[in-house]
Amino acid sequence: MTEEIAVIPGDGIGQEVVPVAVDVLDAVGAFEFVHADAGDATKEETGEALPQETYDLAANADATLFGAAGETAADVILPLREAVGSFANVRPARAYPGVDALKPETDLVFIRENTEGVYTGIESEISEGVTTLTRVITEDASRRIAAFGFEYAAENGFDRVTVAHKANVMRVTDGQFLEAARDVAEEGDYDHDEALMDALAMHLLLTPEEYDVVICPNLAGDMLSDLAAGLVGGLGLLPSANVGPENALFEPVHGSAPDIAGEGIANPAATVLSAAMLLEHLGYQDEAANVRSAVEGVLADGPTTPDLGGNASTEEVGAAIIDRL
Ligand code: NAI
Ligand code: MG
Repeated sequence: MTEEIAVIPGDGIGQEVVPVAVDVLDAVGAFEFVHADAGDATKEETGEALPQETYDLAANADATLFGAAGETAADVILPLREAVGSFANVRPARAYPGVDALKPETDLVFIRENTEGVYTGIESEISEGVTTLTRVITEDASRRIAAFGFEYAAENGFDRVTVAHKANVMRVTDGQFLEAARDVAEEGDYDHDEALMDALAMHLLLTPEEYDVVICPNLAGDMLSDLAAGLVGGLGLLPSANVGPENALFEPVHGSAPDIAGEGIANPAATVLSAAMLLEHLGYQDEAANVRSAVEGVLADGPTTPDLGGNASTEEVGAAIIDRL
């Protein structure tokens, strides 16, 4: 059966890079693409940033490819992650040969808990000038993200798994997160080490090559993965996956980039690498590997977009990637 892929380009450069990724997917497989709208422009036209139709499409498709939204990003991406039942945010940060990177040895994958922690939105102002936030950490979600992280490392040939936490201070919540990870490690006979997240930030900056897979609570995963983005040479390169029990959504880490939108010079690599993650998720391992090596070849030999020092257009880079497939 032909798999159905929901395609939601969104705003700004999402409209420019997503078509390249769709062409790449089309070149390596036979998929049915169903396009849908979301984002700032959609809100202007219809009053809603994320129409129900788009939400339902993502919920029911075999996988979703999303570009970026502008100011409405939170109104679009948070519900879309929920639509696909995502509990794990997978964010690889990898330096590529030929690309100028602060730390060229970096090859990391952050496995970020995607449903709770401090992002549950339970905030209040209890009296004038006094505000609170409730941090939710459940045993179930902690076990689920730990199991996902250990399995991900095993399946992808990564040796080291580090569990990030701050259980020395957040004794109850991160105590539970850490305990759950230890239990899952013991039950599955997985090796792991543990790191206080603040010290880990420093170690990741100085010696990223010593780390492989890092399992994190929600906020720590958001921050540490952005730190790692800075190590490998910029937002135009970073893909991500939002994975649920069955369904998943794939998106570049970057936003709509209004400063360059419409110029046709956005780097499509992050979105094409997200499409490679989508292929892997659907079981097309060889095709995913081909797409990755085509992107790596183009990053090394050119053409490249201005963010990487070249002067090629989005379309020219896309054509060069497809040429290599
Ligand atoms: P951004 O990621 O859009 O841009 C940051 C900088 O990186 C800009 O200088 C941009 O030109 C550059 N850049 C990003 N992607 C690039 C690419 N593929 N090729 C070349 N250069 C690239 O982040 P910013 O400026 O903070 O946010 C812009 C808008 O995007 C905001 O409205 C924000 O809300 C939204 N946003 C949406 C996200 C999403 O939909 N998931 C994620 C992050 C931001
Ligand atoms: Mg972030």
